[in-house]
Parts: sequence; structure tokens; C-alpha cells
Amino acid sequence: MTQFSIVVPTLNESENIDLLLTRIFALDFASDSFEIIVVDDGSADGTQDKVRNWANQSSVRLIERREAPDLTASILTGVAAAKNDVIVVMDADLSHPPEQLRALVAPILENSHDVVVGSRYIAGGSTENWPLYRQFLSRVGGWIARPICDVNDVTSGFFAFRRSLAKNISSHAHGYKILLELLMANQGRIRVTEIPICFRDRTHGTSKLSLFHQQAYIQRLITLAGGTATLNTAGRFAAVGLLGVLIDAFVFHWMISREAGLALSHFVSFFIAATVNYTFNSKWAFREHHEGYLRWHQFGRFLTVGALALLLRGGVLAFLVYVWHVPPLLAIFPAIVTTAAVNYLGSAFYVFPNKKTPPSLEIRWRTAAIGIVLFAVLLRLVYFGLAQLIPDEAYYWQYAQHMDLSFYDHPPAVAWLIWLGTSVLGHNEFGVRIGALLCGLITMGYLYALAQNLYDKSTAMRTLLLLVILPLGFATGLLMIPDAPLFAAWAATLYYMERALVAHQNTAWLGMGVAFGLGLLSKYSLGLLGIAALVFVIIDPVARRWMKRPHPYLAALLALLLFSPAIIWNYQNDWISFAFQSNRVLADDYKFAVHLFILHIIVLLTPIGFLAAIYALFFIKPSESRCFEHRRHLFVQVFTGAPVLVCFILSTFDAPRFHWTAPIWLALLPTIAWMIVHTDQLSPLFKRIQSAWRLTIIACIFGYAFVLHYVVLGIPGIPYHLLTEHYFWRETAAEIEQIAAEVRNQTDKEPIIVGMSKWSVASALYFYTHGDTKLDIRSRNMFGGSGAMYEFWFPSQNPTDRPIIQVGMKRRHLESVWTDNDVEEMLDQPGAIEYRVIERHGVPVRRVYYRVSQGFKGIN
Ligand code: GDD
Ligand code: MN
Repeated sequence: MTQFSIVVPTLNESENIDLLLTRIFALDFASDSFEIIVVDDGSADGTQDKVRNWANQSSVRLIERREAPDLTASILTGVAAAKNDVIVVMDADLSHPPEQLRALVAPILENSHDVVVGSRYIAGGSTENWPLYRQFLSRVGGWIARPICDVNDVTSGFFAFRRSLAKNISSHAHGYKILLELLMANQGRIRVTEIPICFRDRTHGTSKLSLFHQQAYIQRLITLAGGTATLNTAGRFAAVGLLGVLIDAFVFHWMISREAGLALSHFVSFFIAATVNYTFNSKWAFREHHEGYLRWHQFGRFLTVGALALLLRGGVLAFLVYVWHVPPLLAIFPAIVTTAAVNYLGSAFYVFPNKKTPPSLEIRWRTAAIGIVLFAVLLRLVYFGLAQLIPDEAYYWQYAQHMDLSFYDHPPAVAWLIWLGTSVLGHNEFGVRIGALLCGLITMGYLYALAQNLYDKSTAMRTLLLLVILPLGFATGLLMIPDAPLFAAWAATLYYMERALVAHQNTAWLGMGVAFGLGLLSKYSLGLLGIAALVFVIIDPVARRWMKRPHPYLAALLALLLFSPAIIWNYQNDWISFAFQSNRVLADDYKFAVHLFILHIIVLLTPIGFLAAIYALFFIKPSESRCFEHRRHLFVQVFTGAPVLVCFILSTFDAPRFHWTAPIWLALLPTIAWMIVHTDQLSPLFKRIQSAWRLTIIACIFGYAFVLHYVVLGIPGIPYHLLTEHYFWRETAAEIEQIAAEVRNQTDKEPIIVGMSKWSVASALYFYTHGDTKLDIRSRNMFGGSGAMYEFWFPSQNPTDRPIIQVGMKRRHLESVWTDNDVEEMLDQPGAIEYRVIERHGVPVRRVYYRVSQGFKGIN
């Protein structure tokens, strides 16, 4: 009884083939348990004769192809001629160890798997004797396939599979990548495993792999991922692009020379170049994929990609001009290159995608996820140091100027991160925000790993997509607020909790202790996960075992140890911040705010995300048969549900803060991401709603790019109005410095500047005036209002005859409405409340209100 067929492609292997066959027949397989099919492509070195000698006496067959030599075609010919249902493919040059044959076919014969890959790149696998550049190429080849294919060694030439799978292989397949084709053609329907092998490079003859094969490989990958990639297309696209660059640069130069400003110049030059580009691309470069004459939805997609490229390039331009002081006329070129890259990828995958042989929906989501996540990260990288600080960030930067074990209104992590960042990168937005950027990446890493453990790699990719496009993730990945480290710690804690409670890994408790402790240093609300863990352990009988083991207690101890700075600080300060947090919640100003609570969630998650969250929490049924699936579903439900429930209850008697629930949704994102593709398991109505994701994703990513460009460079034609009194403190601080100088000149005394808000005005002013003129800046607690940490930093309110300059975002902030105390009575000869209009590059952006008085009489 024969059991498997070995297909060996050959092209000039006369020095190797005898040795290979000898080694195979030396194995202790029953002689009738396998056959060997050698498929030769017209070798000129007598390979065929050597094979024929074997064919006379054993189960070796020779097939001689007459068509153009091709590895894939040869293997498929061999497969078609095979007598068995289990096929093994291996090289003739002894690179693949015949001794591994048994291990390779066993999983298929035992029917535990359908494809088995002999892998160099898993534990136990290796390569020997291979030139470094080949190793490098092979690694890169594997890496670039990883997004769409879940095998570690997808370019391996040594693998076994069920013969029936070969018929799904695309007729476009050719060249060296047959394993990839086999896996992609059957993705989702097959069980794949890898066994380690040691690949030894040939000692006789030469490799037939050429540059042509590598280029064909990349091209094929793009097609399989849903893009269009022919060399012709790319070439024509490049030619069109070059024309575009010339037009773009020419118009930009002309506009700049007319002093039109960066934003307007690059917008206009872009639009003119883009119109020309689209015309040529649709009629020429991508003509095979263009859907007839001016299709509006295609043009719409083109505009979307173009707009995203444009908004990103504004950041590149601003970065080069403002940070590196490159002249605009030079900076436009790297900016155009960025645009071209975004445009090309957008065109190949989105505007003119592969419609003839489209990949599965699941693969298209992977491609989309990679593209959008990369774009979002790039957007952050370009803009994070350009956008001015919001007052909250300036306040936490103030924390870092008064380094301590903890602070009144927040634990210390945010301050420590800012301290570190500014020590390395200096006193600027880059230094302040770098910590947030890194925390954002850590969040992504842990969330990806969690989603992969709960579901699979493909779901994990969509989870990251959701994380970067949903408002909650975008804000925390960019702004240096306590939520940035909180998100990282929250994701890490979830990851370790799942590993510990669901997967029963002892070591996960160590990570858990660290993540939880550091997380509490970011924001006390991480404690909600502790409650969730307790609930889970009570409900789930399997996890309950941990209660009797030391690990959870040691982890809690470790967390407590890491959290101790906050405890020590509070001990020294009469537990003031714990009191503050609980007062905030339990204050007697009763307010029913469930509607606000829900509204906030809709904003944080977008409407479709909100619906998906409800569905994921309450309507998804785990299949009862699989215990693990049931438990992981319980995990998601408890770790989302318990914290949400707490916040919900709070909202019935207290107004919630906008971002309170933000991190809670991290636990649910994997499930929401899973739903996007597995629509067949959803109710019909909800299945239809899923289509709203596309629009939401585009709208969100466009929105972020738009806002960033707007605050950094402006958008031509759109004035500044909305909420800008909270922003543009750099320009405002310059104005205040000027007012201070005037007062100093008139009175011969150093004025005291008082920011008329709890902390925002004072902090933002202090950050942006911190340069050479060190102004004396206080906060409104000088007049008896609450000033959070300012009450520690500037507690004394002695009368003084130094002039007072009150500064506020609104007129009424300078009056007394926010306190029982009458501000005017505390001032000596208070002047009138005046305002100045703040301009930026000649454009009015906001107002600042101020009032000069001749002294401060103290609180009466
Ligand atoms: N019939 C036929 N037609 N056989 C061919 C052809 C062809 O056009 N080209 C190569 N072969 C045979 C060779 O005779 C050898 O038996 C096997 O295919 C592998 O070819 P090599 O030229 O030795 O390839 P390599 O060692 O550079 O590449 C190996 O590693 C790659 C991954 O790093 C192979 O295992 C590849 O399949 C693998 O992708
Ligand atoms: Mn070889």
C-alpha cells in the first residue's frame, strides 16, 4: 500500500540526484509505501539518464516537461501524476534532509493537519552553509509575507500537503513560491503546522533562483493582498508621478515666491498636480483597472487617498521647515516623495485594486489594517512634536518641574515620563509627548498580543486598526495625559490577566504585578481591573484554583510595592489625593448623568463602535461545545462589563468625566474586531450594520489628519474659531510677555501674572514663556479659588504692591463668578478688562483677556 508521493523538481542536478535517491531509499520506509516523481525541465547535464537508471528498478518515475521551465508548473505536473493523496515536495540538491520525511507526512497521514511545512524559522529549525545575502533575502521574503500568511517559513521548498488542495492554486501562479500559493488558495479551510528542519545549502551545482524570481514574488504578494502590481503599472505610475512632481514643485515655488504661505502653497500645488495625475493614471497607468470613464466612487476614493497624502505631507513640510529649518523650496521635495508613496499604495490597493482575482474579505481587511495603522503611526510621528501643547499637557509638564513621589490630582507616572522625555529631547513638545508616543506603541503591542491569544492574528490586526482609528485610541497615542501610560498599563494588565486566568501561565503573574503597579501610578482607575479579576475568579471555577496558590498574592504585593511612591506621598500629605478622588465621586451635588455617560461612550467609540460594543457584550454566544471559547468570552465580558458597570452606577448620581470609560473598551476591541469579518455569526440586522465600519474608518482617519494639519499649519479657507481659546498658547504667551514688559516699563516693578483658571492658563503660559524671560506666573488660587497643585507650589497670598496682570480665556473668568470671594475687592486699583487678538502667521486665531491692577490686598 503506497501512502505518499515525493515530487522532486530538477534542473541540472546530475551531481545531486543519485545521492538524494540513495538517501531516501536508505530510510526504513516499506518500499511500497511511497513513490518518487522527478519532474525535469530539460536539464542539459544528463540528470534524466541518471533518473532513468533508478526508474528501472524502483518506484521512481521521471516526467520530462517540454514547456518553458518553471518550478511551480513542474511541481503541479508532478502532483497531477502522483498516485497518492499525500504529496511531499522537496529539492533535489540535498538541501532538505530526507530523514525528516517521516515527520513531515505523519501529521497528514494521522489526519491532524492538511499541510505540513518544513520550517527553518521556528524553534529547532536552522540554515547551514548559506551565504549571508541569501539568508537575508530569505528572511525578508518571509517577513513581507507575514501580514497575509500565517506561516513562519512561507518560502520553504520542503512541505507536504493533501493533493486535493492543489486544484485551488491560482492559474496565475508560477515561479518559486508555490507554498505561498497553496496556503493562500486554501486559507481558512486548512489546518497547517510547521516542523523544524535544518536547511543545508547545496554542495554541488548552482542555485537557479534569480532576481527575476524575487521581483515576481513581491509582485505576486501584492496581488494576493488585493493590490494591482505589474511592473508596467508601477513604471507608468512613476512616469506620471514624475510629471506630477514637476508641476507640484513648480506651482509651490511660484506660490511661495508670492508669499502665499506654506499651507496655501502646498494645497494649491497639490491639487493642480493631483488632477493631472488622476487623469493620466486612470487613462494610462492603471488603465486595465480603471472602471470606464470617470467613475464617481473611484474618483471619490482617489480624492480620499489624495487628501490623506496631502494632510500628511503638510506635517512633513512643517517638520522640515519649522524644526530642521530647511528652506521651503527644498523641503517640498521630501514632502512630495511622502505623498507619492501614500498615493501609490493607495492607488494600488484602494483606488484601483485587484478586481480580477480579489482575495478574501479577511485578507482585504488585513491589507486595510496594515495600511491604516502605518498611516496613523506616521501621522503621529510627523505631527507629535509640531502641535502645541494643550493646557492639560502643560499642567503635567508643570508637575515635572516640581518632581515628586506623587501629586494631588494624579499619581506621578505622567510627570515622570515628561521629566524623562524633556531631559532627553529638551524643553519642547517633542520632549513632553515622546512618552505618550511610546506608551501608544506599548498599548498596540499588548493589545495585539491579547487579541491574538483570544482570537487569531487576523483579528489582532483588525484590533489595532480599531485602536488607531477610534477617538479613544488616537487621543491617548498622541497627548501626554495620564491616560497615555494608563492605556499601556491597562492593555498590559489585560494581556497578563488573560495569560494567568485563562491560559494558566504561572509567569504571567509576574508581568501582571508589574503592569498593575505601574498602571496604578498612572491613574487610580486601573483598580477597576482588580475588581474585574475578583469577579472573574469568583464566577469561573477553573480560575478559582488560583485563590489557593501564592501567585496572585505575590503579584498584588509586587504591584503594591511599585505603587508605594504614591502611598508614601499621600501618607506625608494627609491622604489628600485619595480624599480628593473620593470626594470628586461622592460629593453631594447629586446629578443624574446616565445620558452623558452614554453620549461620551458614543463619542469615544463612534456610533457603530458603540452598537458593536453592545452587541459584543450581550448578544454574542460562544459555542457551548468548546470550553476555552466559553471561558475567553467570559473573560471579555467580565473585564469589560465589571468596570463599565461601576462607571454606569457612578453616572446615576454624578456627572462622569468625558474620558473615564476610555480604557475599559480595550478589552472589548478584539471581539468587535472579530465580528467585522465573522459576520455570518451575527444577527442579520447587525450583519448589515457592519458595513458602516468602512465609512467610519475613513472619516476618523481623515478627521485626525485634518485636525493635525489645521492646528499646525492651518487649512486654507477655514478660519480658526472653535475652542481655540484653549489653544495657541505659544502666540498668546508672546503677547502676555509683551504686556508684562509694558507694565514693567510703566511701573518699574516686576508684575505678577495670574492665570484665571484652576491650572490651565497658568501652566500653558509658563510652558510657553519659560525661555529667557522668566515671568512670575501664579494661578487663581491666589484669589482663593481652587488651584490643584498650584496650592502646593504657590500657597502664599501675601498682599503686595507689585502690579497684577490677570489673564483669562474669557472675560467672565476675570470677574468673580467662579468663587464667593470678590476678586475686584482684593485688587488695588483694578483696571478695565481688556482683550487682545492673537494672530498666527497673520491670521487671527483667538483672543486673550487681561486686566492690570496696581497691587494685591490679600484675601479678605
Ligand atoms: N523542474 C524545474 N524547473 N526544477 C527547478 C527549476 C525549474 O525551473 N528551478 C529550480 N528547480 C529545482 C532545482 O533543481 C532544485 O531541485 C530545486 O528546484 C530548488 O532549486 P535551487 O536552485 O536549489 O533553489 P535555492 O536553493 O536557491 O532555493 C531554495 O530555497 C528557497 C527559499 O529560500 C528552494 O528550496 C526554494 O524552493 C526556496 O524557495
Ligand atoms: Mn538549492
